[in-house]
Amino acid sequence: MHSVCYVWGTGSLSEKFVDRDWPFEINAFVDPNKTGSFLALPVISPEQLAGKRFDLLVISSSFVSEIAARLGSLNIDLNKVFVFKSSVLELIPLSEFVEIQGGKQYHLPWRSQLNRVHNSLSSDIVFPDVYQELAKSVGYAHIASVEGDLAEFGTCSGFTASLIAYSIQYYSDNLGKHETIHGQEPRKLHLFDSFEGFPESTQEADINSPHVQSGAWGEGTARGLNEQELVSLCSQFLSKERIKTYPGWYKDTLQIIEADTRFAFVHIDCDLYESTIDVLKHLFSERLISEGAILLFDNWFCNRASDSYGEQRAWSEICSMFEIQHTNLGMYACVGNRIVVHDYNKRITK
Ligand SMILES: C[S@@+](CC[C@H](N)C(=O)[O-])C[C@H]1O[C@@H](n2cnc3c(N)ncnc32)[C@H](O)[C@@H]1O
Repeated sequence: MHSVCYVWGTGSLSEKFVDRDWPFEINAFVDPNKTGSFLALPVISPEQLAGKRFDLLVISSSFVSEIAARLGSLNIDLNKVFVFKSSVLELIPLSEFVEIQGGKQYHLPWRSQLNRVHNSLSSDIVFPDVYQELAKSVGYAHIASVEGDLAEFGTCSGFTASLIAYSIQYYSDNLGKHETIHGQEPRKLHLFDSFEGFPESTQEADINSPHVQSGAWGEGTARGLNEQELVSLCSQFLSKERIKTYPGWYKDTLQIIEADTRFAFVHIDCDLYESTIDVLKHLFSERLISEGAILLFDNWFCNRASDSYGEQRAWSEICSMFEIQHTNLGMYACVGNRIVVHDYNKRITK
């Protein structure tokens, strides 16, 4: 059966939308401020749309809330309306969006959004326990009043970053007063990635590791969302002003962290020994790790749990270097490990 489809929006998002192979043809575009044609198809007004019969209307614009309100006032059947989410390149029913912040924005419920990201990965690297543990640890940092922001090293698909973003907003909403009493500013999320996948391994501890030997952690693998896509995904949960991205290799981008930054939570998901040691050496030597900070190592037990490789080796060297007093909270998910830092020798520099 031939479907009648209209697309609301004549911007770059619509160009991205038509680039994909959809199982339907587009009849026309809808735009309240434009007439004529767009991408060789007619552009009609919302009022003209209201007089037409159609099977599918795609919102291809970031003004989902405003457009949804306009459609409501034109008595258009919202069950036929879908939103094009460029971050996951999918059509999502408008009915799955929830209204928040006084009706000004529509946000997709986080679980549904994360499931979509997860499904679009066609990979088994993420598990429900990972996001439960991350969410709990974001909660720990807030409830235990550990000073500072949150950071992730290794963003790739944005799956864990978006979960952390969601959790920060959740705890900010629920513990705002508690945070203010403890003098805590609204917490930011700092996201670090090359956006080019893994670097080439240069250290023996990486070159000889089973995961590098097998090619699983080879140069250029684990390349995921680009910076803009990552921000667009995470800002569905946490406002853009509270998200800071650092594109590039850690050894370079660590240098631009502002000196008065402190971290209450660090998610280390960069797997390699060299990447991890670069991160830890900088964070501890610059005294950026707060008392009580929680460090989550996503790949601690990779490489057959050997302490000769990866995150585990990096931590053991950093521990001796900075005389770190800590509690090892133990394994989570399949290969992760959590640690809380109590104190360390702050006189040691790189
Ligand atoms: C396993 S993936 C992260 C998975 C991610 N947390 C997710 O939810 O999909 C590892 C990431 O670390 C990044 N990475 C590893 N070493 C890096 C380095 N030295 N500098 C910058 N990025 C690095 C890679 O680009 C890759 O995106």
